[in-house]
Amino acid sequence: MLNVISQNLSEKEFVNNPYTAYENFFKLPKIFYWKEFGMPVTQNYKLVKKIFNDKRFVRKPPSKFFNNLDKEIKPFFLIEKNSMFENDGDLHRKLRAPFQNYFNKKNILILKKDIERISKELLKNIDENEFDFIKCFAEKLPVIIISRLLGFPEEMHSQLSKWSKNMVNMYQPASTKEKKLLAVKSSEDFYLYLSSFIKEKEKKNENDIITHLIKINNFKNRLSLQEIIPNIILLLNAGNEATTHLIGNSLYTLLKLKISHNKIKNEKNIFNELIRYDPPLHFFSRFAKERLIIEDHIFEEGSSIGLLIAAANRDPKIFERPNTFIVNRNNNNISLGIGEHFCLGSHLAKLELQSSINEVYNIYPKLSINRTPTYLDSFHFRGLKELKLLKG
Ligand code: HEM
Repeated sequence: MLNVISQNLSEKEFVNNPYTAYENFFKLPKIFYWKEFGMPVTQNYKLVKKIFNDKRFVRKPPSKFFNNLDKEIKPFFLIEKNSMFENDGDLHRKLRAPFQNYFNKKNILILKKDIERISKELLKNIDENEFDFIKCFAEKLPVIIISRLLGFPEEMHSQLSKWSKNMVNMYQPASTKEKKLLAVKSSEDFYLYLSSFIKEKEKKNENDIITHLIKINNFKNRLSLQEIIPNIILLLNAGNEATTHLIGNSLYTLLKLKISHNKIKNEKNIFNELIRYDPPLHFFSRFAKERLIIEDHIFEEGSSIGLLIAAANRDPKIFERPNTFIVNRNNNNISLGIGEHFCLGSHLAKLELQSSINEVYNIYPKLSINRTPTYLDSFHFRGLKELKLLKG
């Protein structure tokens, strides 16, 4: 029998600081049952890694998952069904392959100057001495960058941002029915918009990911429209929400700990430590493809396991002084995942983080926190509601 824990995901104290609860999880065995998630969970770094790499644990939900879905919610998951994220093995490879090149390190580095320029512009456009960094900057940069890469026009940025915000509510364990219905409506609207947008794109000869995808001649890499659309939606959503929170959480950490710009510029491991210390995504899950016994626990076919990556990043057996931010810590955190679903946008997310933090310190060297911020009640997307700062 597994140890059972109860931790309300919306409890104010937990939302603002889940790390104290995670610390206590290390007093438990490697697998325990988290009542509010309704599944066994592991906080153990080595076990999280093992399961991410174990082909017998998959992301694709079993058919009973679709059969049990509420009729009104189902359309959301039917759209998502063809995304790379919801498939494994050969089909996953087929869906991911056409995107891979655009997100490799070399191609992402080409964007560096552009990201720096856009960051500068956004920061210089802030008029007030006191401002909300999330609203004025962290929410804006990621949607501009990913939209440009994909090939969306500028006038669509705010609509894309709204759809993306509404859609990620589907994944919040504490989400309401109302929010879930809004997520369904947004995914349907986004799908419809993309269907006609892609037809328009076919007539033009532009230089962006969507145009390249629809013009691919190589049969092996060719995706159907039903495969292209959910993956564009995935990229927009993944490229948006998580990066906003990563930038916001990271700047908060640096300002709170009063880390100087000099340190930021000179410590080569500091950005990786920021990604370990307060990441935007805390929890993923996998389904057992067959009956399995792991750590003496029986996983029936189709049952789930939760992988608490943000807790695993503070596993005391792996990380010395895990709750301390150490500027020169050389660490192998797993905030960007591991294995076949390893974050496709990892190089882009890192570049956006690095460029925006450096530009913030270049432009506002005397920046300080004006009010202690609170976090959004949206586990597993961990991010700040607002971050009120003073320029000087
Ligand atoms: C530029 C922004 C980003 C883009 C375009 C992006 C895109 C993606 C995509 C497409 C996947 C699915 C890959 C697959 O199934 O093969 C993915 C997975 C993942 N991403 Fe990102 N992502 C971005 C930012 C981030 C950030 C900031 C984080 C956290 C620090 C993050 C963490 C993850 C994790 C943990 C997974 C794997 C989840 C799993 O295996 O279940 N991503 N990302």
